[in-house]
Amino acid sequence: MRLLKTLLRKKKRLRSLNRFRVTLKTRFGGFFILRQWAQCSDWSSSAPMNRSSHHGAARIITVLFERSKFIASKRQALRHSSFVLRPPHRAMYPTIDSTIGNTPLVQLQRLPAAWGIDPSNVVLGKMEGNNPAGSVKDRPAYSMIVEAEKRGDIKPGDTLIEATSGNTGIALAMVAAMRGYKMKLIMPENQSIERRQSMKAYGAELILVSKTEGMEGARDLAFAMQAKGEGRVLDQFANPDNPLAHYRGTGPEIWQQTNGRVTHFVSAMGTTGTITGVSNFLKEQNEAVYIIGAQPTDGSSIAGIRKWPEAYKPEISKKARIDAVIEVSQADAEAMTRELAVVEGIFCGVSAAGACVIALRHAKTLKNATIVFIVCDRGDRYLSTGVFPS
Ligand SMILES: Cc1ncc(COP(=O)(O)O)c(C=O)c1O
Repeated sequence: MRLLKTLLRKKKRLRSLNRFRVTLKTRFGGFFILRQWAQCSDWSSSAPMNRSSHHGAARIITVLFERSKFIASKRQALRHSSFVLRPPHRAMYPTIDSTIGNTPLVQLQRLPAAWGIDPSNVVLGKMEGNNPAGSVKDRPAYSMIVEAEKRGDIKPGDTLIEATSGNTGIALAMVAAMRGYKMKLIMPENQSIERRQSMKAYGAELILVSKTEGMEGARDLAFAMQAKGEGRVLDQFANPDNPLAHYRGTGPEIWQQTNGRVTHFVSAMGTTGTITGVSNFLKEQNEAVYIIGAQPTDGSSIAGIRKWPEAYKPEISKKARIDAVIEVSQADAEAMTRELAVVEGIFCGVSAAGACVIALRHAKTLKNATIVFIVCDRGDRYLSTGVFPS
């Protein structure tokens, strides 16, 4: 009973402190004035309180001032980007596309030790499969459609066309469905059935090109269709709104989630949107952050990433700030896909695992490093490919 009374008394005191805070905040137009007052050394003439209670009040007000500064800095960061810093426990979102971004950064627990990596290093995966359509491509899909809308280039009801190896198509199909566009997607026939079905589930029209025509053939067909007036190509390979999504979202999130401690960044390269946007943001914060691009070895086939022939090198990659491009074989990437699931509980795609192999290989040469790699998508998108045990 006595405990209950004490608790009630404490609650009451807290409530009155809150009222006091609100009153002071509105009366004096901010905590700045309060802090000045709280830090004033000559208390004797300022108010009818004794010296010790003044001391307590001063401390409370200083703490409140610091908190208000912290909240203001969060608000400032929110204004800076349309994707970052979604408050973690918001109860309701107005649209599905407003849930894109702010993905978790997860530390590998067992693999670094198994690889003999110095324990002063931290290896972290940025879990992009947590986006609503399941991959890192939700960010550029949203950015390319919304920025084009803002410029007046497209409007709901229009038909959009895109060549895609899968994830971009699924992400575009989601954003198009949400914002009222018709979506035509062109992809090589050898992409996984889960990808095709996901696109159709969002209502997109699917056009397949042969495995030999590949992504190059898909890109050519997209432009041929645009020339015939069948719709507008978003062109993720040359569209600056693709890296912009990562410059505004993924990069700042990594910087904040590591408290500016990131030293190395590894990303698999497809359109190069992720590595271009993130590298530019991170290098602006700290020129020394080392940027590594992952691409498949000759003869390897890893969904979503390519070693592009010169004529097809993505236009946006010209702005990327990459320190090293390292190759990973399909076999190593696939083995790591299985290992990540079993050893770390991270169920991801093959390109993400390829980036992880490179992050771990590089970490073996380092001390006191914070290495972030992109986990592009989730493993369930690859179940029919045979990469996981059946
Ligand atoms: C599975 C997968 N990994 C990696 C990437 C590469 O990302 P980016 O296009 O930003 O280079 C993609 C791109 O579509 C992808 O689908």
